[in-house]
Amino acid sequence: MPNNNAIADKMRKPETLSIDETIGNDSAILSGQLQILFEKLFSPNARKDLRRFSSTEVARLLGVTDSYVRHLAAQEETVSSEKSASGRRTFSLEEINAIRRHLGKTKPSYLPGRRPGDHLQVIAVTNFKGGSGKTTTAIHVAQYLALRGYRVLAVDLDPQASMSAMLGFQPEFDVNDNETLYGAIRYDEHQRPVEEVVRQTYFAGLDLIPGNLELHEFEHDTPRALADNERTDTDMFFMRVGNALSLLDDHYDVVVIDCPPTLGFLTLSALCAATSVLITVHPQMLDVASMNQFLAMTSDLLAVVKEAGGNLQYDWMRYLVTRYEANDGPQAQIVAFLRSLFNERVLTSMMVKSTAVSDAGLSKQTIYEAGRETMHRQTYDRAVEAMDGVNGEVEQLIRAAWGRA
Ligand SMILES: Nc1ncnc2c1ncn2[C@@H]1O[C@H](COP(=O)(O)OP(=O)(O)OP(=O)(O)O)[C@@H](O)[C@H]1O
Ligand SMILES: [Mg+2]
Repeated sequence: MPNNNAIADKMRKPETLSIDETIGNDSAILSGQLQILFEKLFSPNARKDLRRFSSTEVARLLGVTDSYVRHLAAQEETVSSEKSASGRRTFSLEEINAIRRHLGKTKPSYLPGRRPGDHLQVIAVTNFKGGSGKTTTAIHVAQYLALRGYRVLAVDLDPQASMSAMLGFQPEFDVNDNETLYGAIRYDEHQRPVEEVVRQTYFAGLDLIPGNLELHEFEHDTPRALADNERTDTDMFFMRVGNALSLLDDHYDVVVIDCPPTLGFLTLSALCAATSVLITVHPQMLDVASMNQFLAMTSDLLAVVKEAGGNLQYDWMRYLVTRYEANDGPQAQIVAFLRSLFNERVLTSMMVKSTAVSDAGLSKQTIYEAGRETMHRQTYDRAVEAMDGVNGEVEQLIRAAWGRA
């Protein structure tokens, strides 16, 4: 065992490396080990796959009866499915979408997406408080809508790229230089068409523009571009995300943007691109105080953007209570306080804290991906019910923006 003098000596001795070198070395060591770990956990051959859905789940997604789904599935020339040895039918999301198209021929309400004249919905999920549930919310909204037949694009604007990882793209290994939205919004000659940074995911109807650390470059480039009097393009920083997304307008019904936990140029540009804003808030006093600062700063900055010609029209803005614990008295008080201030602008449903969400997250899954059989049934059902409640309200807001009941 080292004696105390030896430890004290070591602590007095100056480090031979400078802090940047030490951090750089640690990063290299960690990166190598992480790669080994990820290869073990998620081997390149084991690409993420979406599970199949039971006829009961399909019935719920389509809003028809279970027996009608089984009746359709029996007509094998119209609807394909898989039949287990015990006779249970299961459906992939592609097969569910095929049923939708089949039913939509006679009843268009089975096809919920945009109709002529409906504008693309761009939902920014934001708050600069870290850990307020932005990514969990963004990915569950995106998957909920894809499961219901909307064409969805998820955009990961967070350099930490947790949403990309959840959707099967490991930011350090699967996303190279110029393969994030940065590639399409950068100011220099390396800018590329936005379609080139869109990826299909294993989740039918859900595409992704992944993120990684390079997104952060936009925060450095923008002040330089603003200071450069020689620039002739009129594409200001706050128009860049919106302009890029507008080129994809025809391909999607809804875009869901997971914003970084900062209030920088990326977030501001995302807010200008947004037709609606979802602000996630964990009901604790410090979080609410932090959100207050976020609101004040955002309002000031957006006022400047508006002055410079930014378009800040939007359809709706809502607060969403996240990681809510019903048996926590102070949390209930804070929720009541928020509701008394903002009324219907706080969503009625809340993202309830649940081990079903965090457990599924451990294997990079949402609760929509994890099957009911993979966890305690009651815990799973309660979590799905809460999540569907939140996402159902978001869907209603989208439909209302399209002028539908
Ligand atoms: N409803 C929930 N039940 C249980 N755990 C949750 C729930 N929502 C989020 N979490 C957990 O809380 C943590 C933070 O959530 P999340 O990553 O969604 O926040 P964030 O706002 O995106 O964070 P960041 O600011 O770092 O991007 C995660 O570990 C997530 O698994
Ligand atoms: Mg996040």
